[in-house]
Amino acid sequence: MDLRIFDSEADLAAAAADLVASTARRAVEARTRCTLALSGGSTPRALYERLAAPPVRDELWWDSVEVFWGDERAVGPDHPDSNYRMARETLLEPLGLESARVHRMRGEAEELWQAAADYERELREAVADSAAGMPVFDLVLLGLGSDGHTASLFPGTTALRETDRAVVASEVPGIGGRLTLTFPALVEARALVVLVAGGSKAEALEAALHGPFDPERWPAQRLREAGDRVTWLVDRAAARRLSEAGPL
Ligand code: 6PG
Repeated sequence: MDLRIFDSEADLAAAAADLVASTARRAVEARTRCTLALSGGSTPRALYERLAAPPVRDELWWDSVEVFWGDERAVGPDHPDSNYRMARETLLEPLGLESARVHRMRGEAEELWQAAADYERELREAVADSAAGMPVFDLVLLGLGSDGHTASLFPGTTALRETDRAVVASEVPGIGGRLTLTFPALVEARALVVLVAGGSKAEALEAALHGPFDPERWPAQRLREAGDRVTWLVDRAAARRLSEAGPL
């Protein structure tokens, strides 16, 4: 696990853009394309805007990038809460990415379980499996909730215990329906980058990195299974409890 602490969220976004671009470029050089799973929420917005603008935009071959999502809310693509909509506005439209390479989760589906099954099929057709039988992304972007969730893998939900499927629907108490990649799929990725900003995430970040292993309470702890393939990019506010915890 690699942890990098930045003075500000802007510095974090700049470093994240450079890391995403270099990781994607290496994937395309090695395998002629990059399979990228985007995170939702608000933290990645500044990252996506940087990726879609010079100079970073011109540092990789975007027509060799296939875009997926790590999770989606149970809303349509034009809803203000849609992770797809945020990425469309900040990244996909500015880059003019062809829809054939944009794999949207259908959060608007009447039956979320069906949307999850459909996405799993689409994903497995587009992304080769690992020996563990899971699709292997070149790069997965993630965030961290103040409750310790990542993607839409929330504390105490049955999605945390999924072992066979790469995508599931999850009814999250007090939040609503979600579609999410599962941990078996996330931890197979060749690279994972977790963006964490703001003091509200300090407790969850300390738990995720250092806390006693209790993934039902702190789901993001399961990212430890990906070892040194995970890079945590955090700002100083989110990291404020780490220094108290001593050296990393
Ligand atoms: C989502 C995200 C979720 C997010 C965290 C952090 O759909 O909301 O996928 O996992 O990354 O909740 O969200 P913020 O970046 O808004 O703090």
